[in-house]
Amino acid sequence: MAENRGKPHAIMISVPYQGHINPFVNLALKIASKGFSVTFVHFEFVHHRLSKAHHCNKTQVDIFSEARESGLDIRYTTISDGFPLEFNRDANYDEFWGKVLREFPARVDEFVRKTIESDPYLLHFLVADTVFSWPATVAEKYNLVNVSLWTEPALVFSLAYHLDLLRENGHFPCKDNIHEEVNYVPGVKSMSTRDLISVMRESEQRNSYTMLESLFLAFEQVRKADFLLHNTVHELEAETLSILNKYQPNYAIGPINFFKNLPTYTVSKSLWSESDCTEWLESKPPGSVLYVSFGSFVHTSRQEIEEIAYGLLLSEVHFIWVVREGILSSGDTNTMPDGYEDEVKDKGLIIPWSNQIRVLSNPAIGGFLTHNGWNSTIESLWCGVPMICYPFLFDQPTNRKLVVDDWKCGINLCDGTSVDRKEVAEKIKSFMSGAASKRFRQEANKVKTILHHALEVDGSSEKNFDQFIKDLTEKIH
Ligand code: UDX
Repeated sequence: MAENRGKPHAIMISVPYQGHINPFVNLALKIASKGFSVTFVHFEFVHHRLSKAHHCNKTQVDIFSEARESGLDIRYTTISDGFPLEFNRDANYDEFWGKVLREFPARVDEFVRKTIESDPYLLHFLVADTVFSWPATVAEKYNLVNVSLWTEPALVFSLAYHLDLLRENGHFPCKDNIHEEVNYVPGVKSMSTRDLISVMRESEQRNSYTMLESLFLAFEQVRKADFLLHNTVHELEAETLSILNKYQPNYAIGPINFFKNLPTYTVSKSLWSESDCTEWLESKPPGSVLYVSFGSFVHTSRQEIEEIAYGLLLSEVHFIWVVREGILSSGDTNTMPDGYEDEVKDKGLIIPWSNQIRVLSNPAIGGFLTHNGWNSTIESLWCGVPMICYPFLFDQPTNRKLVVDDWKCGINLCDGTSVDRKEVAEKIKSFMSGAASKRFRQEANKVKTILHHALEVDGSSEKNFDQFIKDLTEKIH
C-alpha cells in the first residue's frame, strides 16, 4: 500500500445508460492515461447486461482488462442499486430512477467510505456524472475534490443552470403549444420555448415528477463541483461556455467518444449485442444509405413505428434501422408491422443494435435519421453525416435546434405534431438526393473539421484537458 502514497485516485461512478456510459468509460481511460489510478464503478445490472451482450459469464467481463494490460492503473467494480437483477428498469423508469435519486446515495456513501479505508495512502477524488443527486454531499463528507461530467451540450447545461431565470420569465414550466422567445439566459442566443429541454414543459412535468426532481437535485449539487467537464467543443459553444466559466471552472473536452491515444480498446461498451453491417454496407453505393436509430432510452408507439416503417419503404432509399428490444412503450415485443420485413427485402437492414460509430464511418452512409441524443449527434457530425432530426425528450429538442437552426446540418422529420408516412417518405427522398443533401453534407463537414481539430495535440479540447489535469493535480495535493 505504501507505494501508493500520494498517488491521485479517481473514484468514478457511471450513470447506467448507454449515452452516459460511453463518454464516461473513455474519460476513465483518459484520466488513467495521465498516470492516475482509477476505480471505475458500474451498476451491477449494467455489468450483467454487458456479460449478456458479449455472450460470456459475468466474471469474464472486465471492460478494462486490455487497458490494464497496456499498463494503466484501472480497476473495475460494481455497486447494487437495491433492485433484483431481473427488475425491468426500462419499463419502470420512475420507480427505478426514483430509488436512484433517494436511496442510492447511501450505498454510494458506504462504497466511498470503504474505498478510502482500503487504501488511505491514495489521494482520492470523485468523478461523477452531473445527473446524479449526491456528488457534492459525498465529496463534502469525505473531503474529496469533486469533478462533474456533463454529457450533453453546454447550452442544455446553461438552461438547467438558469432555471430561476426561466421561472421568473414564466417559461418554467412552459406552456406546451405556445412558442415564446427566450432571450435572457446569459450566454444563450435567443431561442424559442419549443426548443427548451422537455422536462421544462408543463405536460412533461405532469407525466414524470421524478425527472423534475432529478433536475433540481442535480443542479443544486453541481454548483458545488470543483471542476466541470463538458462533452462539447469550445469553438461550437464559446459564448455559453465563457459565461459558465464565470461561475465555476469549466473545461470543454469533447468529443469524448473520439479521444485519441487511448490504449487499444476492443471490448465493446454496448449493452446489446451488436450486429455487423459492414458486408451489407459495402454492397451499397457511397452516400446512398440512411442510418436510423433512436438511441438507448427512447420509447415510442406502434403507430409511430408504422409510419416511419412505411415512410422508409415509400422513400425507396436503402436503410439500416436499429429497432431496439423494448422500444415500444406498451412493452410489446412484437415491434414491426406484420409482413414488413418481407416487403423490405434487400432495401433495408433491421437490427437490434449496431456498432454505431462503425456504421456512421462507412462511406455508404448518406444521412442519419436520429432522435438527437447528444452522443448520436456528435458522432454523426464527427463523421460528416447530415441528420434528419426526430427528437423525443430530455435534451433532444434543444440538440435539434443546434443541428438544424444553428449549424444547418440537417432538417426536421416532421413539420406538424404527428408523424405521417407520406411526409416521412418525401423528406427522406429529397434529403438523400440532389442539391439539398450536398449542402447539408458541406455544413456537416465544416463541423466535422472543428471536432477533429479540437482533439489534435494543439486543439482546444486537448489543451483544455491538459489544463484540467494541471488544475486538478494542484487542487488535490
Ligand atoms: C441518453 C439521452 O436519451 C440523450 O438525450 C442524452 O443526450 C444522452 O443520454 P441515448 O438516448 O442513448 O442517451 O442517446 P445518445 O446520446 O445518442 O447515445 C447513444 C449511444 O449509443 C451512442 O454513443 C451510440 O453510438 C450508441 N449506439 C446507439 C450504438 O452503439 N448502437 C446503436 O445501435 C445505437
